[in-house]
Amino acid sequence: MELMTPKEIVAELDKYIIGQDRAKRAVAVALRNRYRRSKLPSNLREDITPKNILMKGPTGVGKTEIARRLAKIVKAPFVKVEATKYTEVGYVGRDVESMIRDLVETSIRLVRDEKFEEVKATATNNANKRIRDMLLRTQKPSGSSATSTQSNKVDENTVEIVVEDNTKKNSEALLKEVEEGIHDQDLIEVEVTEAPKMIEIIPGAPDANISDMFGGLFPKRKKLRKITVEQARRNFVNEESNRLIDMDAVNEEGIRRAEQEGIIFIDEIDKIAMARGNGNGPDVSREGVQRDILPFVEGCTVNTKYGLIKTDYILFIAAGAFHIAKVEDLIPELQGRFPIRVELDNLTAKDFYNILTQPKNAITMQQAELLKVDNIDLQFEKEALQEIARIAELENENHENIGARRLHTIMESLLDEISFEADGNYPISKVVITKDLVQKVLGPTVEKYDITRYIM
Ligand SMILES: Nc1ncnc2c1ncn2[C@@H]1O[C@H](COP(=O)(O)OP(=O)(O)OP(=O)(O)O)[C@@H](O)[C@H]1O
Ligand SMILES: [Mg+2]
Repeated sequence: MELMTPKEIVAELDKYIIGQDRAKRAVAVALRNRYRRSKLPSNLREDITPKNILMKGPTGVGKTEIARRLAKIVKAPFVKVEATKYTEVGYVGRDVESMIRDLVETSIRLVRDEKFEEVKATATNNANKRIRDMLLRTQKPSGSSATSTQSNKVDENTVEIVVEDNTKKNSEALLKEVEEGIHDQDLIEVEVTEAPKMIEIIPGAPDANISDMFGGLFPKRKKLRKITVEQARRNFVNEESNRLIDMDAVNEEGIRRAEQEGIIFIDEIDKIAMARGNGNGPDVSREGVQRDILPFVEGCTVNTKYGLIKTDYILFIAAGAFHIAKVEDLIPELQGRFPIRVELDNLTAKDFYNILTQPKNAITMQQAELLKVDNIDLQFEKEALQEIARIAELENENHENIGARRLHTIMESLLDEISFEADGNYPISKVVITKDLVQKVLGPTVEKYDITRYIM
């Protein structure tokens, strides 16, 4: 379980997300509470269920971004789902239960990757030895990367050339060569299994895969293929790792972690809320989806192909803009299961300026990196960035408020010309974006908006 303190989690989120302090605090505290709970005696622990969070705020202010970053920070099993993707049980489409199954899959993958990492050294060693042994058995014509193995059928027209026999080489020395990658581009013949074809039974249901359902009923086809040592090593490391790892234990630990540490982020929850008085049409199914979500948030047991999982301790974070539908339009039972409400703030010009400059993955930096590929050294003057931020706020006020996404659209039109012209056929050229340039490029559109502002 992660050991980060709430302050550390917030500090980490701060590197990518500007403002929204309350939302950051709420998720940080919720996570720390999971850790605190894990330290309690089991009789106490059983009674403490996580307090689910409902994030509410306009579009493009960082709801999804907070969840996405959170997932990367804490190494807990995490899935992000969109409420609108689900359909009521009994209808064609993805049922809500699949979010629990997805969480288990994610969790098992997480545990497996950890175990893989643990056995990596041993597995690599074994793999290299296997390659060495294969090379020893191979007669390798020198000066050519083609190898012919003894098992190879040689047709009448081909004369087998035996130039150097690797068996003469000290096997220790050969192992060293293999480890150092000297033979990486040599070809060896290995048996590879062909993945069985995926067959979709029910359209739109991605989990339905015949070979999955019938387990080992269809034997996997094996076939001899010539591949490079490098590729063979990857295959062998995989095989060896699987041999070294107790998969049953991995599945068990995966289930345990999903159960105790799992986080499910349900995005666009407002889209399945329904405004009062519209009790027909697709709304009926929206309420149905809410009712379907309920038992999982309440706590129930779900059967997955890896075993049973209790959903009682999974942390749910729901988010939505709640522009049209209100939180109160969700069915009361569901509302009640999200006791922590955080509202995200609308972003201002000052926030936009910070978003342009501060995050580790700031878009100004991304654009500069992209253009650097075509020999352009892109720089922004401070005043230019302030002007972009001001225009973003203005356009959000006068047009649809799309939050920080506005910065992306503005940046695209601002750099449109440069992006199109740049082709790298020149020495490195410096391009400085000034306030003047921003106004010249964006001015005409902005002025238009400025006028509309006063026309009532
Ligand atoms: N506070 C912020 N700090 C930094 N970047 C932000 C912030 N808010 C939004 N962004 C950026 O804007 C884009 C959209 O944000 P995000 O996906 O989080 O919106 P959202 O709140 O989930 O909106 P929606 O309700 O439409 O789903 C992302 O690229 C994100 O990086
Ligand atoms: Mg979102």
